Amino acid sequence: MINTLVTDSPERAAEFIRQGKLVAFPTETVYGLGANVFDASAITRIFEAKQRPGDNPLIAHVAAKSQIDILASRVNEAATSFIDAFFPGPLTVVLPKRDDVPLIATAGLATIGVRMPVAKLAHEFLILCGTPVVAPSANLSGRPSPTTWQAVFEDLNGRIDCILRGEATEIGLESTVVDCTGDFPLLLREGAISLADLKNVVPETSRYEIAAGAPIRSPGLRHRHYSPRARVVLVSSDELSKFDAEAENSAFIGTKEPNVKFALTIICPTVNAYAHELFAFFRECDRAGIRTIFCETTDESGIGAALMDRLRRAAE
Ligand code: TXA
Ligand code: MG
Repeated sequence: MINTLVTDSPERAAEFIRQGKLVAFPTETVYGLGANVFDASAITRIFEAKQRPGDNPLIAHVAAKSQIDILASRVNEAATSFIDAFFPGPLTVVLPKRDDVPLIATAGLATIGVRMPVAKLAHEFLILCGTPVVAPSANLSGRPSPTTWQAVFEDLNGRIDCILRGEATEIGLESTVVDCTGDFPLLLREGAISLADLKNVVPETSRYEIAAGAPIRSPGLRHRHYSPRARVVLVSSDELSKFDAEAENSAFIGTKEPNVKFALTIICPTVNAYAHELFAFFRECDRAGIRTIFCETTDESGIGAALMDRLRRAAE
């Protein structure tokens, strides 16, 4: 057990990063667990603290576009277009890595994911760090990503040096990841910036499909993710009106009121609100000992695609 300091001060938090320590901090997507990108031993501790598989690469966070050149050896035309259109914001661009970035940051890959958060506190913190900061989501591996500082505390108190306390994260789902190292951009992970948004900027962009036998482009896609301990069952709004599930030990999240009374229910007025609430609700259900969580399916436009991606993974 180490002592975990919870602070509101981005100055104190950045001091920890400069001393080679681990700091959880809020972004607009989810909370990240950060370390200096050039400090291989601090990065080793990230993998230990999260119990993260060593083959899953980390995203490097920058305070300014000028820091991208510290990390990437080449930024092609597509990547430049995405950066101009979406930085700062919830987009990670995968680029060829510079040789001086330690391989442990990228789990041995020759490429690195780079993102510039737009959340004000994240931005202030990253400026004060004075270096790009690698950060996976600040949860124990396999648990839902943390959208509040309390969720970080629940998983990582005693395992990391500092939590920079901020508000609940605005979006609630992790960033969109787009690989820009090939001839055409490939969407590796859905997020608040949709495939349609990316295609508006670079029309050749397509969704990456895992081909049998081929090496996998995004190692994170192999691992089980986003799962509460409870069983997750997806239901359409049609099914909702007729199902009579045993409500005891069951919970519901969606946009429409179900007929059945559940032990825990949350009705979200919009799909954005649904995305914002999902991971916190999964954690609440686990604390309440819920056995089954019924989740209403949504239409896949806007953030709906990312929401459905996380719901399907949780239900696997
Ligand atoms: O919104 C987010 O992206 C949050 C906040 C903290 O920025 N971070 C986050 O990190 O979700 P993590 O480590 O939980 O997810 C990173 C994902 C993984 O699926 C990983 O495999 C993929 O990005 N990734 C990272 N670097 C990559 C690379 N060089 N090539 C392909 N995929 C990469
Ligand atoms: Mg994660």
